Amino acid sequence: MRNPRDFFKPLAIGAPDPLPEIPVKPSRMVHFFDASNPKMIAKLPDIATKVDILLGNLEDAVPVDKKIASREGLIKIGREVDIGDTPLWSRVNSLDSPWFLDDITQLVEAIGNRLDVVMVPKVEGAWDIHYVDRLLAQLEAKHKIQRPILIHAIFETALGVTNIEEICAASPRIQGTSFGPADLAASRRMKTTRVGGGHPAYLVRTDPDPDNKDAPRITAQQDPWHYSIARMVDACAATGALPFYGPFGDISDAVGCEDQFRAAFLLGCVGAWSLHPSQIGIAKRVFSPPPDEVAFAKRVLEAMPDGAGVLMLDGKMQDDATWKQCQVMVNLAKLLAEKDPEYAELYGFAA
Ligand code: GLV
Ligand code: MG
Repeated sequence: MRNPRDFFKPLAIGAPDPLPEIPVKPSRMVHFFDASNPKMIAKLPDIATKVDILLGNLEDAVPVDKKIASREGLIKIGREVDIGDTPLWSRVNSLDSPWFLDDITQLVEAIGNRLDVVMVPKVEGAWDIHYVDRLLAQLEAKHKIQRPILIHAIFETALGVTNIEEICAASPRIQGTSFGPADLAASRRMKTTRVGGGHPAYLVRTDPDPDNKDAPRITAQQDPWHYSIARMVDACAATGALPFYGPFGDISDAVGCEDQFRAAFLLGCVGAWSLHPSQIGIAKRVFSPPPDEVAFAKRVLEAMPDGAGVLMLDGKMQDDATWKQCQVMVNLAKLLAEKDPEYAELYGFAA
């Protein structure tokens, strides 16, 4: 049992107060960069103008002999590189790795006031969040950090899936979660080497024709990730956290990436990871609601200003529930329009 009145007290004397609500900002893409790569660092000020979130990756995809260089590179970026007001996140190494403790202690000490969110991989249960929560509070108190650094959990093991609700509810510091299909596939012993997306062998097939058993039977690919992503969305929505789709590994397959991102968007995810600059535009397009849907939603809100009653619009029934659906769409459009003049124009919110 935890005393509910303690939930919003800092876990260390001198640490900032936990936030009662997660800040909601445009989050269509979390753009991953390798901070050990000087060429990439040079491009960051420009990339920062094109993305919603920048993330210095210290975990998988960073070779073991680059682990320290990428941590040091990220600290240098946090101190010296002008990325405007683009949120800066880091994916630290996993809790059982030899690097996690130095990652977190050095990042908070050096750039704790610049770092918005720490993405923690392979979170398996509430105990992992409790550990990071207390450690962050101690480090924030020690280094006089002004506002709490939030935690983003990657949901990528079978145990993590099993415990997703308790992970999301473990701390007010939980900003959101990302779906990690590669580690999750390995953890579950799924027989795929792909990172996200469908699989041609995961399908359903129509019945045989009784009069011609050799006639071709139509097949349709199914989505192997539907259950897990939907479950993550529920856990996040139920606890006020934000769900993200994670990586799509086949950089050469822009269409497959767009489909995967859109399935996540339709189910309730706010954004996805971009692992390559070519995925930034895809995420931006997919996670910004379609202008015609926004226009329709605006008409519903205008027709039912207080959300009460029932009416027909273009042959479609509108009531309290559809009014709320339309609010989701219009509120997101307004949020994006504030950041993005191009979308302000498309949504009809330009001044
Ligand atoms: C991401 O980290 C994944 O494992 O898919
Ligand atoms: Mg992973």
